[in-house]
Amino acid sequence: MSDKFYPDSKVEVRGVEARHYDFFMNAISLGTYPFFLKKAINKMLIQPDDVIADFGAGSGRNALLMHSYLSDKGSVVGYEIGEEMIASFRKNSEGIPNISLRTQRVDEDIAGEKIYDKILMSFVLHGLPHEYRLAVLSNVQKLLKKGGSFFILDYTPAPKESVSSVRKFLFTKVECPHSYDFIIRDWNAIFKEYGLHVVKQQTFMKWVSLIEVQAD
Ligand SMILES: C[S@@+](CC[C@H](N)C(=O)[O-])C[C@H]1O[C@@H](n2cnc3c(N)ncnc32)[C@H](O)[C@@H]1O
Repeated sequence: MSDKFYPDSKVEVRGVEARHYDFFMNAISLGTYPFFLKKAINKMLIQPDDVIADFGAGSGRNALLMHSYLSDKGSVVGYEIGEEMIASFRKNSEGIPNISLRTQRVDEDIAGEKIYDKILMSFVLHGLPHEYRLAVLSNVQKLLKKGGSFFILDYTPAPKESVSSVRKFLFTKVECPHSYDFIIRDWNAIFKEYGLHVVKQQTFMKWVSLIEVQAD
């Protein structure tokens, strides 16, 4: 039996795939993934003193990239639940005082105040059942400072009627089963319900975007 919270979701990466996640991503992308991530994180315009949360932080690769923009006053807090990912994150960030990890689900209520200048969620939101995506938005609303930004690096949303049959097939049968539902949602309307709005969307390779969201 699966120990995953959502057995059908592919974002709860486990086992060999989780232990060698960065290697697999580099291989699948023919070596281009690190350059893509660097480019996307550069677009977050991280300031030296930013306090940043990384929701579903994985191996810590994004945390390290973000950390390279920070002064001693800035920090990155990863939130992660996968056992192997947690081990990789700890190993990769060992000895770096302003990177820390919280073993905490981001789709359950997180206690805290508005402490983050930026929150990144990279390739996690699409894989959650929709009601749990909404729980993430509640946490964003609660933890993001006024004027701060929530960055979603994930598959590009698109109106249902514009999604080709090939894209629909790939997103329903090959990618995580929740990903098709993610792309066809009306995210502007959903953000509005949480007092959030999109300030910028940058698209990479057509099917992937970095969406910057702020509080109204
Ligand atoms: C596809 S990986 C992406 C990792 C990383 N964000 C990246 O871009 O390389 C998804 C990650 O989200 C984590 N994750 C999935 N659901 C989560 C949840 N509810 N709370 C915290 N982390 C979660 C998984 O354990 C996994 O490490």
